[in-house]
Amino acid sequence: MSLDALFEPLTIGSLEIPNRVIMAPLTRARADERHVPTPLQGEYYAQRADAGLIISEATAVDPLGMGWYRAPGIWSDEMTTAWKAVTDHVHAVGGRIYCQLWHMGRLVLPDYIGGQRPIAPSPIAGEGETMAPPPDDYQGGFLPMKPYVVPREMTEGDIGQLVAAYGQGARNAMRAGFDGVEVHGANGYIIDQFLQSKSNHRQDRYGGSVENRVRLLQEIIDAVTAEVDPARVGLRVSPTSERKGMGDSNPAALTEAIGRLAQQSGLAYIHLIEPIASGFMEKPDYPVIDRLRSVFSGTIIQNGSFDGPAAGEAIAKGQADAISFGRPYIANPDLVTRLRRSLPLAEANFDYAYVGEERGYTDYPAFSASGCCV
Ligand SMILES: Cc1cc2nc3c(=O)[nH]c(=O)nc-3n(C[C@H](O)[C@H](O)[C@H](O)COP(=O)(O)O)c2cc1C
Repeated sequence: MSLDALFEPLTIGSLEIPNRVIMAPLTRARADERHVPTPLQGEYYAQRADAGLIISEATAVDPLGMGWYRAPGIWSDEMTTAWKAVTDHVHAVGGRIYCQLWHMGRLVLPDYIGGQRPIAPSPIAGEGETMAPPPDDYQGGFLPMKPYVVPREMTEGDIGQLVAAYGQGARNAMRAGFDGVEVHGANGYIIDQFLQSKSNHRQDRYGGSVENRVRLLQEIIDAVTAEVDPARVGLRVSPTSERKGMGDSNPAALTEAIGRLAQQSGLAYIHLIEPIASGFMEKPDYPVIDRLRSVFSGTIIQNGSFDGPAAGEAIAKGQADAISFGRPYIANPDLVTRLRRSLPLAEANFDYAYVGEERGYTDYPAFSASGCCV
């Protein structure tokens, strides 16, 4: 039965995991207002520790790359120490957790960075709007929305600082007790802004050809792998995503360039967002996962709109090695058990996805046959 494939152990780089159910990174905004992680996050991740591997929520490596109220950072000693309490909590119950290293680039509103313009490869705004910081009389609940702004084109000096921030973030993550790191190259954030042709109009060695557009990623991977064994480094990408004004003239060629780079750098895994049904992101007309497979021999984690049987089938037929689950993890802390036993899944209340405290975060119960949960 193909569902069984999901529960076979796997070695990702140098990490052994007991099953192939990966918890996808989920921004949940439960750090404090200074972006320092809280004990509540430790409780939340520990509840989900029977995942083969937890990828943490996106965690900013630099204040200029942080544009999300109460999302966590990892640029300071205080943040690093606070993360250590979270990873200790996960390890105490037998789990494994990687830190997703993040910089939002053009998707940071000036409101978060003292009125400055955000940085990006080119002065092209993201499409749409995002949550602004709370007003002075904020009582909780939904945050006001504001459109993205035209960013400032990065100089080579800015690029050097960005690369160094990723290196420092990776070093801090290991000091914080994470088992490894995942470089966030997906979802229209700064690395993706360099990778995809629609957001990168640079005329220098960081823009134009695919080889030039992957250069920033290579420099970041070099900085990260100088701090962390590449066998404990993964990369998340979404080369077919068109969300937030993204787009590429040739996603298949871009995917191959990313895969070759990861192969040469000895990365443990690539985490590809390539949904099998539209939802968080549109299902692509031309999937690229086979192109990735042709150039990358490490682990491939696929993400996007999977349920248990579809995940088992994708692994059984060799399309992916593991599958990550995002939205199902919000309301199902015991997702591994539910998938294994084909139990019903609870529905998440998205009113609390990005705001709040315990409610809609740590108060979803494990399945009980005596009636709960759906
Ligand atoms: C509430 C929420 C927060 C998310 N935060 C992140 C994040 O921090 N980093 C990231 O790479 N993706 C993030 N995503 C995307 C998910 O990791 C995942 O790609 C998406 O939910 C699709 O997978 P699913 O169909 O299993 O939910 C987020 C998605 C949701 C719904």
